[in-house]
Amino acid sequence: MAESKKIILGIAGGIAAYKTPELVRRLRERGAEVQVVMTRSAEEFVTGTTLQAVSGLPVRSNLWDKDAEAAMGHIELARWADLVLIAPATAEIMSRLASGAAPDLLTTLCLATHAPLVIAPAMNHVMWSNPAVQANRQVLEARGVRILGPDRGDQACGETGEGRMVEPDAIAAAVTGPTIVADVERPPLIGRKVMITAGPTREAIDPVRYISNRSSGKMAYAMARAAAAAGAEVVLISGPVELTTPDGIQRVDVESAREMFAATHERIDNIDIFIAAAAVADYCAESVQENKIKKTEARMSIELVRTPDILASVAELENGPFTVGFAAETENLREYAISKLEKKNLDMIVANQVGRNRGFDSDDNKVDVFWTAGEQSFPMMPKTELAVALIKLIGERYLERSAPGTRGELADRARIIHE
Ligand code: C5P
Repeated sequence: MAESKKIILGIAGGIAAYKTPELVRRLRERGAEVQVVMTRSAEEFVTGTTLQAVSGLPVRSNLWDKDAEAAMGHIELARWADLVLIAPATAEIMSRLASGAAPDLLTTLCLATHAPLVIAPAMNHVMWSNPAVQANRQVLEARGVRILGPDRGDQACGETGEGRMVEPDAIAAAVTGPTIVADVERPPLIGRKVMITAGPTREAIDPVRYISNRSSGKMAYAMARAAAAAGAEVVLISGPVELTTPDGIQRVDVESAREMFAATHERIDNIDIFIAAAAVADYCAESVQENKIKKTEARMSIELVRTPDILASVAELENGPFTVGFAAETENLREYAISKLEKKNLDMIVANQVGRNRGFDSDDNKVDVFWTAGEQSFPMMPKTELAVALIKLIGERYLERSAPGTRGELADRARIIHE
């Protein structure tokens, strides 16, 4: 950790707040400067006097405190912080953070800061498992908020379950230690090459007609942006879409499935992660008519042949990249997705229900992700947010697959853990 890390410790109103003086001590022992910011309800559980004594700084709690604002305004405070830690984080504060509400000093700071945000939730285990709280957790994770815990064990309410705040010493170690610093401050895909196929393909019938589909390319472009933000070098192999190229991304325009296949294989060497998000046409005309077809006949038919499966061909490569496919289905989502994962020999598959205004061409999406050893569901959210969450998950699984001993990734892992 850098010398004297400046941490805003936000304390929300949960019983675990009684442990925060101890947390301040542990953080300071590890060389951090700690500015405590309490919510009104936190003051019901622990006193500002105690926290001021252990932190050595006046405690802030009121956005409208003229004297405190004159000394260091909330925007200045937001800039001052290297990291914002909220412990305990209650269901209430998670909901405010997820929605962007800022009725008090702490939540205002969270909106106004560029510093990474780490939260240590603490609440009754039934509250923690409530779908509303879990949905907020997913939204926050998707935005890059790092969530510590909660732990399982005895709770203040007399029940046992998942909801205890992680112990102060472990929180202090995590936020000042190398792993979380790497996690929250260092883009996880730095130095990685990611290739993404995007949009529909167009399969020509004659010079003016083609077969295509409703894909907008929005999900793939959002993922390209998210991968670049995570530090990756990104190549986007794009079918025809009405989208602008994200900054810093190499875009290769193609029309047909065959062109997409060729463009992909020309550039696949050294790609670490291949994400096939394109809606590639499954069939193309056996032969493209040289001239415009005339409507002389009452009926006509076009002979179609299968297009090459780009994703399967990349998954077959020896020492190939980590492969991620998409499965857009109108029914039996889970079954079809898992069978596709196995049949195409993929590392991961992202399944989404399409049809009835869902999936294609909309700005929101809801997906389930499957890999050999697990699965994760994401609630309906904007594609831009979902893309960030998917890139995070893909990055984690990619690193896990590249565990020490395989593909010479030992050095990489060591770098990520120790930098
Ligand atoms: O088999 P299906 O078309 O449902 O598989 C979907 C996945 O395979 C998507 O990730 C899509 O981008 C990819 N695909 C491909 N080339 C094809 C057909 C699908 O890369 N010809």
